[in-house]
Amino acid sequence: MRKKITVVGAGHVGATTAQVCAYKELGDVVLIDIVEGVPQGKALDMMQSGSLEGFDSNIVGTNDYADTANSDVVVITAGVPRKPGMSRDDLININAKIVKSVTEQIVKHSPNCIIIVVSNPLDIMAYLALKVSGFDKSRVIGMAGVLDSARFRAFIAMELGVSQEDVQTMVLGGHGDSMVPLLRYSTVSGIPITQLMSEERANELAVRTQKGGGEIVNLLKTGSAFYSPGSSSAQMVESIIRDKKRILPCAAYLEGEYGIDGLLVGVPVKLGVKGIEEIIKIDLTDSELSALQASAEAVKKVIGQLDV
Ligand code: NAI
Ligand code: 2OP
Repeated sequence: MRKKITVVGAGHVGATTAQVCAYKELGDVVLIDIVEGVPQGKALDMMQSGSLEGFDSNIVGTNDYADTANSDVVVITAGVPRKPGMSRDDLININAKIVKSVTEQIVKHSPNCIIIVVSNPLDIMAYLALKVSGFDKSRVIGMAGVLDSARFRAFIAMELGVSQEDVQTMVLGGHGDSMVPLLRYSTVSGIPITQLMSEERANELAVRTQKGGGEIVNLLKTGSAFYSPGSSSAQMVESIIRDKKRILPCAAYLEGEYGIDGLLVGVPVKLGVKGIEEIIKIDLTDSELSALQASAEAVKKVIGQLDV
């Protein structure tokens, strides 16, 4: 029997996530939104690409949570994206109400699912979904590190003129300007990037990564990135559905790991059919660890503003 994937929010990121999941035949996909017609129209349009792309996943668009019942994985992309001049944290009030009501519906209809949160501000919305769902911490995961690492991978590959596939990076911390791209864990086919470019240039690419979401917001002017976010979300769905046990940087609830307690922040995790199967503890230098802890501190401050 095929797995069932629900994507909540049929906007830019949600529709792209659904499309990539269908193209990879990860399972049948339900796309749900509050706007009538949009999820139905996008789902039908995607279905009509099945013969061209060679997939048999069924894609259904709906406004009714009954259609999402017993999903294996639910990806929450519902909410408002930022506009130029806004930080991700500026979205907290409006998106918290949306993520809370969406999570309540998910829990009611898919009590055994794994939730991947995408809505911003990411680490705060993931915390909210964990608390509202009452799920075990292994079953609520935030998507950000996969995207931020993919951006860093792209910048390194563009700089060196090499395949993006051969570039590995690890970006930890909160999904904001304080995120922590780890140069020491960034390689091209196992070769540390600092052997291929100057440390100064590598640092410049790390800073571009930290500001990578804003760079796209400033170009688009009407919303934020969605192609790479959709692919990043689908990669997490794939690791769970196919039990691939990939080691990916994801926002995970920490209870003392890396000296951080009581919030979700980006760390390397093993992602399999049970969700977060392990939080991987890597060696960090004092300055890397304090950057990660400072990033977590910034997340903690915003959690304090939650009013739901
Ligand atoms: P969008 O505006 O294109 O789509 C959002 C969709 O959510 C709309 O279709 C809207 O009707 C729907 N929606 C609103 N309230 C809803 C509800 N109660 N139930 C179901 N659907 C509802 O926005 P986009 O670009 O898709 O971004 C979505 C969210 O993802 C934003 O908060 C954005 O900041 C965030 N994001 C996070 C990333 C990450 O790395 N974690 C990357 C990219 C975007
Ligand atoms: C991004 O990083 C908006 O969080 C989103 O593109």
